Amino acid sequence: MTTTRGLRDRDQPITMLTAYDALTARLVEAAGIDVILVGDSMGTTVLGHDDTLPVTLEEAASHTAAVVRATDDALVVADMPFLSVGVDESETIRNAGRMLKEAGADAVKLESGPHTVDITERLTQLGIPVMAHLGLTPQHINQLGGYSRQGTTTEAAEEILSLARDHEDAGAFALVLEHVPANVAAQITAALDIPTIGIGAGPDCDGQVLVSADVMGLTDRHPPFAEQFGDVAAAMTDAIDAYREAVETGEFPAAEHSHIEEGVDDLE
Ligand code: KIV
Repeated sequence: MTTTRGLRDRDQPITMLTAYDALTARLVEAAGIDVILVGDSMGTTVLGHDDTLPVTLEEAASHTAAVVRATDDALVVADMPFLSVGVDESETIRNAGRMLKEAGADAVKLESGPHTVDITERLTQLGIPVMAHLGLTPQHINQLGGYSRQGTTTEAAEEILSLARDHEDAGAFALVLEHVPANVAAQITAALDIPTIGIGAGPDCDGQVLVSADVMGLTDRHPPFAEQFGDVAAAMTDAIDAYREAVETGEFPAAEHSHIEEGVDDLE
């Protein structure tokens, strides 16, 4: 069973992958992945939005609960959707608390910045473990103007390092670093005691995370730092085509898929 504390000081890199439903979560856990992130990337992957901003707290809680029901050992981290955090402290606490109390998550992830230091401390004090997330934070797409690399100047990298330290001091148990130069991520990783989990942040983080749809080959477009490790879209297309063809040709359903009830008389 993976715990938030158990992520520290490991011999092997931490593996983290997103999942948003019970079927996928079962497979992800069976493969031995340490942490399942119910990411707000559900917005662009399973919910069909253009970005992550429309994802609601109800959707995040419902998908998190599905993942929790399907898993025993993986650490399940619920991503807090856009504006579910930071508008008001008590609302933030209630929203994050729902992910643990109602959905059964082990921890929450907050897209982080100067505005999440105090709330990270408060949530941690209340018993809600927080995974921080710095570098590219896709919920800021409207300010960033695109999903571009972050921390590309010394000044910008120092700001990320300073925020990383602030979140560690506030009690975050881990830090996602997204789309930052590998040399910046390596220095931030060396400067922190909590583990860093990189996505587009090079090999020197303490762990790696990707979006499962990218890993499985279910998306047409994926970020430059993602790798497709399989072609699940092709396997699904083959299965769906074979089913359609079997129905159209009358091969399905065959005798073994149907039964005759002898006790039923001819109907008038
Ligand atoms: O929502 C998500 O999937 C994420 C990862 C990309 C880290 O935040």
